[in-house]
Amino acid sequence: MDLKKFKTRNIYNEIEDGSITCKSPSNIALIKYWGKKDIQIPLNPSISFTLDNCNTTTTLTYQKKSTNDISFELFFDGNSKEEFEPKISQFFNRVIEYVPFLNSYHFKIDTTNTFPHSSGIASSASGMSALATCVVELEQKLSQEMSLNEIRRKASFLSRLGSGSACRSIEGPMVLWGKHSSIKESSDIYGIKLPIEINQVYNNYQDTILIVEKGQKLVSSSVGHELMNNHDFKTQRFIQASNRLTQIISALESGDLMGFIKIVELEALTLHAMMMSSDPYFILMRPNTLKIINKVWEFRKSTSIPVCFTLDAGANVHILYPKTFQKPIDNFIKKELLKYCQDGQFIADCVGEGVKII
Ligand code: PMV
Repeated sequence: MDLKKFKTRNIYNEIEDGSITCKSPSNIALIKYWGKKDIQIPLNPSISFTLDNCNTTTTLTYQKKSTNDISFELFFDGNSKEEFEPKISQFFNRVIEYVPFLNSYHFKIDTTNTFPHSSGIASSASGMSALATCVVELEQKLSQEMSLNEIRRKASFLSRLGSGSACRSIEGPMVLWGKHSSIKESSDIYGIKLPIEINQVYNNYQDTILIVEKGQKLVSSSVGHELMNNHDFKTQRFIQASNRLTQIISALESGDLMGFIKIVELEALTLHAMMMSSDPYFILMRPNTLKIINKVWEFRKSTSIPVCFTLDAGANVHILYPKTFQKPIDNFIKKELLKYCQDGQFIADCVGEGVKII
């Protein structure tokens, strides 16, 4: 793997201080990444929809200093957040060999999420991709040597070192991360915009996120990924995810919504099946997660409206559907599903275009 191309080349500009602000979205995987090796190399390729309304805005304020070390302070919604510092420290330590100029500055990181911190929606994808993009923008100010494509690749590459799925938040509407034989530009070390002609039925796809359970998950994603290393289905899972990727690409090109739905739901249930068959085993779904899934199946069967669900590593349910069906699905959600959400909470989101410099 050629990692040299991700190292900062020349620094031309002396910059004392300044600030950069980026807004970056979360994403929802359709083909799930579950299991990794080395430093954030996925065991299988994954595909996601980039989201829009669930996002993080980060301002990176930098000030030149004389010492040569990593130095930062972190604020979340204006308050100092020490418990998030280890994750940010780990990010800086992993990326420093690619962006050594970081050692010459003291950073203040101000970050806010549009979604509630304790809503059970992971903020690592949006948070890490926002921070990584700020770092790449600073590099661009210092050196101005990268094309737009190189900037995106590097932002995705650095994001991945912060949190694997974060590398899929830089672009939209759909991103592929992980080597796949049918797409030669695909890579294990960064995400790429899915290089296919996506059928227009997927334009402006909606994602209503039903908050079944707020708060900290019982088992973190990092622990879940780790358990895949000795999982009985590890080898088979790689083959399965790669095959499903081929199938979903074909459904995305042709507009075969029923084919799409089948793979998306299979993937969601497979993700949780792997958790339930890990050693030690665990369950992140809740009774209300299953009630919602059954209601979605009943509704789809009785109306033929192409709505489906997916899950991330938690109890919450993402309801995915084309914008044309917004009205009947809004009614269905209000009447039949919100009663299963904690405090009736949900987030209306849709497919978006990725990170923005503000
Ligand atoms: O990026 P992580 O380590 O938080 O892992 C994310 C894993 C899933 O959300 C369950 C699946 C995925 O592909 O995003």
